[in-house]
Amino acid sequence: MSERNYKIAVIRGDGIGPEIVDSALKVLDKAESLSGFTTERSYVLAGGSAIDSCGIPLAYGALETCQSSDAVLLGAVGGPKWDNVDPSIRPEKALLALRKGLGLYANLRPAIMYKELASASPLKNSGDIDIMIVRELTGGIYFGENGAFDSTEVMADGTVKGRVAYDTEAYSEGEITRIVRQAFEFAMGRRKKLTLVDKANVLRTSRLWREITMSLSAEYPEVALDFLYVDNCSMQLIGRPSSFDVIVTSNMFGDILSDEAGMITGSIGMLPSASLGKPGTPGLFEPIHGSAPDIAGTGKANPLATILSVAMMLRWSLGEVEAADMIENAVKDVISAGYRTPDIANGENGEISVNTAEMTDAVVEYLCNDLH
Ligand code: IPM
Ligand code: MG
Repeated sequence: MSERNYKIAVIRGDGIGPEIVDSALKVLDKAESLSGFTTERSYVLAGGSAIDSCGIPLAYGALETCQSSDAVLLGAVGGPKWDNVDPSIRPEKALLALRKGLGLYANLRPAIMYKELASASPLKNSGDIDIMIVRELTGGIYFGENGAFDSTEVMADGTVKGRVAYDTEAYSEGEITRIVRQAFEFAMGRRKKLTLVDKANVLRTSRLWREITMSLSAEYPEVALDFLYVDNCSMQLIGRPSSFDVIVTSNMFGDILSDEAGMITGSIGMLPSASLGKPGTPGLFEPIHGSAPDIAGTGKANPLATILSVAMMLRWSLGEVEAADMIENAVKDVISAGYRTPDIANGENGEISVNTAEMTDAVVEYLCNDLH
């Protein structure tokens, strides 16, 4: 077998997940035949579809299949159908178990504004937006100690506490160092600006992040480092989005800020993501958007975020950088040519309204054209 044969675990998921993953695999098929590598795909059940067929959010053996692959491609999981299942088996648990089980501590969420789509952004005239959010993904409040108990304590105003629930945030030096170092490395390959986002005026964990980040900055003298409190950052992202380059932050803050950054590019349907662990271990690649059950099966879903996630997979896990460039260029080309799914349409002249399948075919066609 050729050295350029890769094992991919594919999780199609729920809602629009299956449609957009199938689109992305069609683009991958074409990239393979143009570029001369091959993939062997194993389908894995996770999320609501796993709950329906096995009663648990991550099917038996799913994690092992992912662990023994070179990369994992995921559509989206969850939907209102599973809103009332027991919290211990919610579809989102599959995602958290995969992140933890695969050791995916670094979550890369690029937010790029395509100039042709700028009119869809609420911040039309704010210049080029090209932000890379580096979110810590396997620690913090998502994975800290939690619990619930009843309390009879009476508060100062006479109210009885009653039921109490708690989630705790803990971060270790090792966890902070590996993610911040990765963020510095990214900044070196980009515009050499790094912003640590935290809440150091209140949280001890944030103060540890700051101390460690400051001492690491001595190793990266070329990178301009600054610090922002998360509340302030959420304003600055709207006020001066083009001034940001790389943002590094904790699991919870990164969850919130990456949704905000996605929105300011005007097109959450365009944004891919990568979750990476130790070099040489499989990464997980998925669009930033959710499973959009309201449009599942209607052909309205934008497949570009998942197609771009395949490009990230080729770049970061499989080392097929040329194929990754080829896919990213084809996506730019279809956008320039005017192809628009409903989420990115704005009624301008020259737009070509397309459905999921037509958008996919357009990307496949431009992939071929790129070679001529
Ligand atoms: C995300 C999602 C998940 C998260 C949910 C679905 C658990 O919002 O990937 O950003 O909070 O990490
Ligand atoms: Mg989120």
